[in-house]
Amino acid sequence: MSSLAGKVAYVTGAARGQGRSHAVRMAQAGADIVAVDVCEQVAEFSGYPMAEPADLEETARLIESEGRKVLTRQVDVRDLAGQQAVVADTIETFGRLDVVVANAGVCNWGRIWEISAEQFQETVDVNLTGVWNTIKATVPAMIEAGNGGSIITVGSSASVKAPPGCGHYAAAKFGVVGLTKALAVELGEFGIRANCVLPYGTNTALGNDTSMYKLFEQYPTYVYSYPPNLLETDALVEPAEISEAVVWLADDASAVITGAQIPVDKGFLAR
Ligand SMILES: NC(=O)c1ccc[n+]([C@@H]2O[C@H](COP(=O)([O-])OP(=O)(O)OC[C@H]3O[C@@H](n4cnc5c(N)ncnc54)[C@H](O)[C@@H]3O)[C@@H](O)[C@H]2O)c1
Repeated sequence: MSSLAGKVAYVTGAARGQGRSHAVRMAQAGADIVAVDVCEQVAEFSGYPMAEPADLEETARLIESEGRKVLTRQVDVRDLAGQQAVVADTIETFGRLDVVVANAGVCNWGRIWEISAEQFQETVDVNLTGVWNTIKATVPAMIEAGNGGSIITVGSSASVKAPPGCGHYAAAKFGVVGLTKALAVELGEFGIRANCVLPYGTNTALGNDTSMYKLFEQYPTYVYSYPPNLLETDALVEPAEISEAVVWLADDASAVITGAQIPVDKGFLAR
């Protein structure tokens, strides 16, 4: 369980859900953690609330209970200077940065030509530009440290299969795959890997948001884009199950894997 001993991991959207699970799982594997989350109600178009400061405190408590150190910061991933300041604090506190999990994201629903410009922009700003901000803030420090490393971006099944009702979300998540593949090409010479995980239907506030059902009532044929998964479908995937893929990508067990997209989806994308 100490495959990440001596390493430092930076996780966005770490206050709850998948981000918290990744942070705690990597702490169990021996990493010290930098846990970043906005912890404010900044997602105007999402049908579920964002995390609260108490959620981030609970993530920190869980990491410390694993015997690891944690740095928490309330920063919006859309704030590049804010993320750069966290990275400066990371290097000052821990002296290195080895793993990045660009996980923060929002989801909301509507047909492509009916959503507002503001809804489109918010979704792309958080889910794609936010990931680019995380990369821009963290990569120079990783190169400078010269220890190699692993960057894991969080896409979605919607990164490769466009679902109806969230085309703007899919556009951003397709973009995350393109960004990650290009990053893998550019970072190979520095021994830094970049891979993307593609979750589907995960048991979090985002994954349990029921707003999509209203759209499906209006446009019943949309449901055909969501066939049964290959594996049993009576429950959503648990964040801890996504974390197993993330910790594998973070540590040296996956040392020869880069530029890949890993579905963690009970076979949804394979049908
Ligand atoms: N849950 C699913 O079914 C599912 C499926 C595929 C992909 N994903 C992706 O997984 C990732 C994690 O989502 P989750 O399921 O854990 O949902 P979640 O809503 O529980 O967690 C997302 C976290 O990100 C934070 N956040 C949102 N906007 C932010 C911003 N601008 N800056 C900083 N932090 C911000 C929220 O406060 C929250 O703590 C997202 O990128 C999401 O798109 C989720």
